[in-house]
Amino acid sequence: MKLVILSFFFLFSLGASSAESAPCGNYGECDEFAPQLNNLESLQLGAVTFMNNCYGCHSLKYSRWNRIAKDLEIPEEIFASNLVYGQTVKLGDTMNGSMKKEVAETWFGISPPDLTLVTRLHGSDWVYTYLKTFYEDSSKPYGVNNMVYPGAAMPNVLASMQGQQILSCKQVPIIASNGGVKRDSSGNNITEEKCGYLKTIPGSGTLSTEEFDEVIYNLVNFMTYVGEPSRADRERIGWYVILFFIIFTSFAYLLFKEYQKDYH
Ligand code: HEC
Repeated sequence: MKLVILSFFFLFSLGASSAESAPCGNYGECDEFAPQLNNLESLQLGAVTFMNNCYGCHSLKYSRWNRIAKDLEIPEEIFASNLVYGQTVKLGDTMNGSMKKEVAETWFGISPPDLTLVTRLHGSDWVYTYLKTFYEDSSKPYGVNNMVYPGAAMPNVLASMQGQQILSCKQVPIIASNGGVKRDSSGNNITEEKCGYLKTIPGSGTLSTEEFDEVIYNLVNFMTYVGEPSRADRERIGWYVILFFIIFTSFAYLLFKEYQKDYH
């Protein structure tokens, strides 16, 4: 029996660790992302960023224009005149993107993937970190590379907001074999130079680091919503279901007590 329980735990821990190790490439652990699917303002701002900066290349073909307008509570006229791209588009259409696949392939070597489900494919943490970790790399065709997805064929479309991000080096403390920081005889930490850290050149973008993070937060919040539009409803209904079970269980228990009386 013990063996069975132990092997169960072993399998479980294997499963848990493989889920954890979906790290962000050269960046290591991804930055954490906690969606706020009831925050309509954030979702609306995210939708605007997406339509203005991403939709030119990436489709959201499993979602429909009017579903987004409805869920995000954007009046259809405002939505249609500000966010819908393409003259012939009807609000009931799917969002098929505006770029032809063959054209994209000649430009980028690969056509930009559909992003409807990208937050579910890679996780929102991954997408959030990916969008913040482009850096300048003159050896690449667009002059940029990415920490999370090295060699990505996507240009850094938000560079003007974020500013110039480069890889830099810094002094980090050396960790001794006992896990502590190595010190010299006068008690100062011994450091070594390590490279591969991201650094944004202050003042080179139109937004500060915090403002840029917020733009990306709202954008990924929107992309998380698009990946599962009914998630906010599902989570809300889940609470009612749990409440129902609690109430139902208490009645079932009372009934059980009532039946027990017959045995005595
Ligand atoms: C100029 C065209 C272009 C624009 C604009 C663009 N992308 Fe991309 N994107 C690409 C290409 C091309 C790839 C494929 C990269 C590869 O696989 O090497 C890509 C890949 C991605 C991926 C990785 C998808 C995957 O499954 O690997 C994400 C996420 C992404 N883009 C998000 C965005 C977001 C968000 C925006 C808007 C801020 C955006 N992109 C704007 C061209 C573009």
